Amino acid sequence: MTRAYNLSAGPAILPIEVLEKAQAEMLNYKGSGMSVMELSHRSQYFEEIIEAAEANLRQLLDIPSNYKILFLQGGASMAFTTLVMNLRKTGKVAYDEGGNFGKKALEAALELKEAYDLQVDVVASSAYANYIHLPELPEELSEDYDYLHICSNNTIEGTQYREFPNYEGVPLVADMSSDLLSKPIDVRQFGMIYAGAQKNSGIAGLTLVIIREDLLNLNADLPVIFNYNTYAKANSLYNTPSTYPIYIHKLVTDWLIEQGGLEAVNQKNIEKAQILYDYLDESELFKSPVKKEDRSVMNVPFMTGDVDLDAKFIALTEEHGFRNLKGHRSVGGMRASIYNAFPRKGLEHLVELMKKFEKEHQ
Ligand SMILES: Cc1ncc(COP(=O)(O)O)c(C=O)c1O
Repeated sequence: MTRAYNLSAGPAILPIEVLEKAQAEMLNYKGSGMSVMELSHRSQYFEEIIEAAEANLRQLLDIPSNYKILFLQGGASMAFTTLVMNLRKTGKVAYDEGGNFGKKALEAALELKEAYDLQVDVVASSAYANYIHLPELPEELSEDYDYLHICSNNTIEGTQYREFPNYEGVPLVADMSSDLLSKPIDVRQFGMIYAGAQKNSGIAGLTLVIIREDLLNLNADLPVIFNYNTYAKANSLYNTPSTYPIYIHKLVTDWLIEQGGLEAVNQKNIEKAQILYDYLDESELFKSPVKKEDRSVMNVPFMTGDVDLDAKFIALTEEHGFRNLKGHRSVGGMRASIYNAFPRKGLEHLVELMKKFEKEHQ
């Protein structure tokens, strides 16, 4: 069977080279006689894997030495909660509610409001518009906020920040689950970045956290298992980490380096997204619900406005080897998640099908 054009929002398409490498090393990892899944996390083999994964990530994102990288579990959803526990100082926290995942992060803080005596302020929101555009951020933010939480790319709604705000004295905490490693970023702009790995960074089971050292251990009284400092001190080997997802992350970051790094990858991603957006802008049938300046390079929702036609188009794409084009239930229509590993020729093929379908349904 040939490989599908997998347009899933996550877990998502992986580079074929990564899968082939994992396959080749599956039964006997580097002469160990074991698969990576069977290796002790304390073995020399695994230590080399996790060290290389960290070195790759530092190289790709140019992560300064005063930032720690943590390889955690629990997904971005667990981080919604643990980040509040770890980063609170005065207890005043700010949220940008720009999409469904921003809302979930906000709800996680609200859950802890009483237990930690928090003041949780929504300083920007587009909830009133069903998150169809990015909210307007305030000009200024009071310095006594412990952090401002933001989601860099709204996977469901298909909106993405091109630039990030800089509020003197307020650490920016970003959920980058769906655009980390898709383009260069300046890590110094952030207090903490986190992401579930299952989009551009590997497979489910690994949560990446990049955190500035001065934000570690602000709450030494936390249960040890929730304290980020526990993992920072132990190089993510306090207990058994998700060894196979870390290995796949290492292979994915090797691949990104082979592709020429994040500048090169970003250029390809922009060109790929443009193929689809250009057609959406000229089409009489298919429409993008997102205004140009907010559009995501990673997740592209679109629709015909007729649910039956949407379903018919999705069925046509399935016949042509595409998978998972159906939109999220809260937006409807279609959504093409076109992460790093999604091939350009898949997008060209998709647009050909859209053109053909439009002709037949004028
Ligand atoms: C932007 C964003 N944040 C958070 C999540 C939740 O991630 P997880 O399922 O790893 O908890 C997702 C999942 O798709 C996401 O896209």
